[in-house]
Amino acid sequence: ITVEVNRPGHRIPSTLFGAFFEDINHSSDGGLYPELIRNRSFEDSDTLQNWKFINLNGASSASVINVDALYPPTGGLNVFNRKYLSIQVRGEFKLENRGFWGMSIVKGNSYTFKLAARSGEGFSAPLKVSIVSAAGTELASAEVKGFDAGWKYYTVNLTAEGSDPKARIEIGANGNGRLYMDMVSLIPDQTWKGHGLRRDLAGALNAMQPKVFRFPGGCWVEGDHFRQMNNWKKTVGNIDTRTSSWNFWGYNASRGLGFHEYLQLAEDLGAEPLFCINAGISHKDFVPMDQMGQWVQDALDAMEYANGPENSVWGSIRAKNGHPKPFSMKYIEIGNENGGDQYAERWRLIAEAIRSKYPEITLIVNNWGGYPKDPLPDLIDEHYYDNPEWFIMNTNKYDNYDRKGPKIFVGEYAVTSKTGNGNLRGAIGEAAWMTGLERNSDVVTMSAYAPLFCNVNHKVWPINLINFDSYRWYGLPGYYVQQLFAQNQGTVSLPVNVEGAPLLTFYNKGGLGLGTANNSAEFKDLKVLASDGRVLFQSDFTKNIDDWQKAGGEWLVKDGVLRQSATGTNTSVFFGDKSWTDYTITFKGRKISGDNG
Ligand code: AHR
Repeated sequence: ITVEVNRPGHRIPSTLFGAFFEDINHSSDGGLYPELIRNRSFEDSDTLQNWKFINLNGASSASVINVDALYPPTGGLNVFNRKYLSIQVRGEFKLENRGFWGMSIVKGNSYTFKLAARSGEGFSAPLKVSIVSAAGTELASAEVKGFDAGWKYYTVNLTAEGSDPKARIEIGANGNGRLYMDMVSLIPDQTWKGHGLRRDLAGALNAMQPKVFRFPGGCWVEGDHFRQMNNWKKTVGNIDTRTSSWNFWGYNASRGLGFHEYLQLAEDLGAEPLFCINAGISHKDFVPMDQMGQWVQDALDAMEYANGPENSVWGSIRAKNGHPKPFSMKYIEIGNENGGDQYAERWRLIAEAIRSKYPEITLIVNNWGGYPKDPLPDLIDEHYYDNPEWFIMNTNKYDNYDRKGPKIFVGEYAVTSKTGNGNLRGAIGEAAWMTGLERNSDVVTMSAYAPLFCNVNHKVWPINLINFDSYRWYGLPGYYVQQLFAQNQGTVSLPVNVEGAPLLTFYNKGGLGLGTANNSAEFKDLKVLASDGRVLFQSDFTKNIDDWQKAGGEWLVKDGVLRQSATGTNTSVFFGDKSWTDYTITFKGRKISGDNG
C-alpha cells in the first residue's frame, strides 16, 4: 500500500459520517424517549391496551372513553387528546402497567410520576402509586389525592429503594364514585444532557460522533396511508396536546420525541440536523396536486420553526418550547424513497417554494430509480441495503461518478443479508464501503448507516446497529466501525495505491463472479490470462451473454459495456471454467489479481 502524502487531494467534508434516526423497532417509545408507561394517554386503542385492571375487593370496573364516540364530544383532557380512562370505583382496585417489556428502575434514582385526573360521583379516596419489582417488592410509593370535578395535574416524585429492570407501576384506590385519568406518566429524572432522552442510548449514539443527523425516517415519514403521514406540527409543544399516531412499523407512537426534540438532539450531538419531510406521498396514496398547499406550508413552517427569529410565528413557538436561539438547520429532504412522475411534480412544488424563501438551504432529493432534475437538487439521497460482498465489490462505485452534478448523500446503507443477525463480515463490508465514500468524499459529502436503534422485543428490521432492552444495549460489530471512522476522520484525502487488490470475487475454485448494482458496472477490458499467456477470457460484451450463468436481476449490453438493466437491483453474473487453476486477471490493462483464489 502506498500513500502519497505529497499529493494531497480534496478536503474531506466534516459531515461525511452521520446518523439516521427513524422511529422503527420501538427506537423512540420504549427506547430513546424514556417514558416508562406504555399507552400513557390511552390513545392506543378503545380498550385498555397495555394496562391491566384488577378488581381487588368490590365491583369496580374501567373503560376507555373515546370522546369521538360521544355526542356532544365532551369530557376529554383537550381537543387533541381524544381518549381517557373512566373508572367506576366500587371498593378496592388496582391498575398495572409494565411499560415496554418491563420498567428499568435503579436504586437511588428518582422518577417523576404525573397524571391528569378528575373525579365524579363523590370519589374522594387517595390514589396509591407504587413502583413494584417483578417479584412484587415495593421499590417506591406515594399518594395522590384531592381530586376535583375538572381536570387537574398531579405530580409526585418517587425515589427507588431498590433496582429491577423489569419493574411495573401499580395505581390503586379503595373508595366509591368515579375517577377519570389521562396522561399517566413516569419518567426518570436523570436524562441525557437534561434534555429528556434515555441516557445510555443517547450516549451510545453520541459515541458515534455523527456530524449530520437525519430524522425522523424512513418509511415512518411516508406511512402506509394519508393518516399515518408524518406531520411535524402534531409533534411539538406540550406532550399532552401532541397527537399520537399509528406507526408504520407496528405500534402506536406517542410523539414524545417530536420535531423540537430531534433538533435539540442534533444540537447536543454536535451534528447538523437534516429533516426529512413528507412529500405528499405515502406508500399507498398521493395527495392530489391541487391539495398540496398544506404540505408546502408545512415545509416552510418547519424551516421557520427551526431557523426563524424569535418574533416570527413559528420561531416564537420554538422559543416558548425552550430554544429561543434558532437551530440553524441547513438541510431538508423532500420525501423518502419516492420516485416517478408523482414525486417529480411534488418535488418541484415544494423545492421551488423552499428555494425562493430559503435560498441558502441545501435541498435533498430522493433517488428512487432516478431523481427529478427540475429544479436541480443540491444533494441526492441514495440508499443501499445488501450483503457484505456487494459492499466490498462496490467500494469503487463513486470513483468515476460525474463530478459536475449534484453531490451525494448516502442517507441509508447497511449490510442486511448473509450475516445472520449482524456479524464481523457485515462490519467489514460496511468498512470497505466507507473507505470508498471517504475516497470519493469530494462528491459523497454525507452518509448514514440505517437503522440505528432496535428494542430487541420488537425487531421489525433484520439488522440494526444499536440493540437494547429496558436497561442495557449492545452494538453490532458495525457500530464500532462507525465509531472508528467518525472518531478518526481525516481532513484531506490522499491518493492510496494498493497493489494486487482484487476487484472481483472468486465465487468457486475456478470461475469468477462479477457483481454490481444500479447500472454502474463497466466490465470492459477485463482479461483472464493463463500462466502460459493464453487468453482464457476476454470481455466482449457486444456478444449475447445469455450463455452465462446469471443470478438475480437482468443484464444488458450497451456500447460494448456490460450493465445491469434498469429493472434489476443487485446482480451477479458468473463466468469461467472450473478447470482454470492458475491465471492472472487484468482490468483496463492493470493486473488486479494473482493466481487462483
Ligand atoms: O431503514 C429502514 C427502512 O429502509 C427505511 O424506513 C426506509 O427508508 C428504507 O426502505
